[in-house]
Amino acid sequence: GITRHYKFDIKLQNVTRLCHTKSIVSVNGRFPGPRIVAREGDQLLIKVVNHVPNNISIHWHGIRQLRSGWADGPAYVTQCPIQTGQSYVYNYTISGQRGTLFWHAHVSWLRATVYGPLIILPNHGVPYPFAKPYKEVSVIFGEWFNTDPEAIINQALQTGGGPNVSDAYTINGLPGPLYNCSAKDTFKLKVKLGKTYLLRVINAALNDELFFSIANHTLTVVEADAVYVKPFNTETILIAPGQTTNVLLKTKPRYPNATFFMTARPYVTGQATFDNSTVAGILEYELPPNGFHSRISIKERPLFNSILPALNDTSFATNFASKLRSLASARFPANVPQKVDKQFFFTIGLGTSPCQHNQTCQGPNGTMFAASVNNVSFAMPTTALLQAHFFGQSNGVYTTDFPSDPTIPFNYTGTPPNNTMVSNGTKLVVLPFNTSVELIMQDTSILGAESHPLHLHGFNFFVVGQGFGNFDPNKDPKNFNLVDPIERNTVAVPSGGWVAIRFLADNPGVWFMHCHLEVHTSWGLKMAWIVLDGKLPNQKLLPPPADLPKC
Ligand code: C2O
Repeated sequence: GITRHYKFDIKLQNVTRLCHTKSIVSVNGRFPGPRIVAREGDQLLIKVVNHVPNNISIHWHGIRQLRSGWADGPAYVTQCPIQTGQSYVYNYTISGQRGTLFWHAHVSWLRATVYGPLIILPNHGVPYPFAKPYKEVSVIFGEWFNTDPEAIINQALQTGGGPNVSDAYTINGLPGPLYNCSAKDTFKLKVKLGKTYLLRVINAALNDELFFSIANHTLTVVEADAVYVKPFNTETILIAPGQTTNVLLKTKPRYPNATFFMTARPYVTGQATFDNSTVAGILEYELPPNGFHSRISIKERPLFNSILPALNDTSFATNFASKLRSLASARFPANVPQKVDKQFFFTIGLGTSPCQHNQTCQGPNGTMFAASVNNVSFAMPTTALLQAHFFGQSNGVYTTDFPSDPTIPFNYTGTPPNNTMVSNGTKLVVLPFNTSVELIMQDTSILGAESHPLHLHGFNFFVVGQGFGNFDPNKDPKNFNLVDPIERNTVAVPSGGWVAIRFLADNPGVWFMHCHLEVHTSWGLKMAWIVLDGKLPNQKLLPPPADLPKC
């Protein structure tokens, strides 16, 4: 591998969308931010310089960060944020990974504008496990807010209610023609006939899982979360915030002179944020200059609209999830842990906490919305967990008494319990090096069931099982897939159901795990794992870099 240098200047930039101009936090003045392209085995040195009033930190979502947890990025977990006028060099080596990932701000709601693709090409001479595409294109979804996203979440946390929803979904920063005042801000993909394109689809949206489809075209899914999968064809993909999906697009329509919509809109499982707006981009064919089709003027091009599943189409979601299987080939094996050292059962979901900031909280029955893992709503510390761990200064920062089972047992998918209150704490789980972990995540219905895309830092995990209703420890493990389960870093725990994941804790450090719906993270649906050093020198966390920010 080689060393690649990048510089991220965090600065304010005026951007206009939906006829609203506002100053956003950006990287190098760009929105979305720059694309990072590296190769497996490369070392990345990315200098982030903060020129804005806000605190910043950047997370390289899905990068394993083997022994280099100092470069992972979540604020107050692996580092203190980079303050105004300061800088920090993220230094890490990409090892054993190739595919589509992304990077994003990991403090408050700055991810709304601070994100971009992170593409890892395979080693030289190692082909894709599918025919080489003619071209590769990044398709990154986001959400546009006409107002300041940090103000939105701060206000929601003050009043205890739900934050305002975004004003538009975007493809590569562009809302497209179905929104007011946005026809000129439309993502356009020009393609040639009879070629194969690789679309690297990334969901960087804050709060919504999205369906995505291209009119009159079939997509072949070949990779998810930077892991190759057994290819399958589909008209539509479903992608949760934090997930990436590579698809092949073969260009051979019956009407090459047409304009084809590519659209995305949310998959809605809760009752809270019902949003039926749709982002559209346009696919068009470049036709030979003197061919028959080119004589048809643009105005006469027929328009084909893409068809998306219903907003609440859970059977599509279930079916799509079941099609995702690891490639599990000789070159790209699925190293599913076959034995389990430690089992955990976590409930995840929404609850309430007592009204703190004023007398009239806007959450259910005058409470504040909260979200929790095993009924503990995670309280962010004021210093970084990784430093506290490394220097043996956990006192007053975190405790290691994370409950191994929920403290209020109940029927998770039936009648909600009377007590919806959660407790607060900065509680972590300690794992010895190389522990083989099985984790069942049960989605609860305390305040209505909702699908939660759970993201684990520092690891990929295998999704060995998934189902609806309450997890049954006697029956369900018999059906686990230990042969070719999907390997990924973010999994949508189905509304009113559960997933079972396995991972090997072979990466020493402190690793965040949270719902990648930003509103649920803000409400406390998060926790962290400490993985201890192993005995050998190459099983130990590296020492912190000299420029690590201070709190
Ligand atoms: Cu992409 Cu902790 O997140």
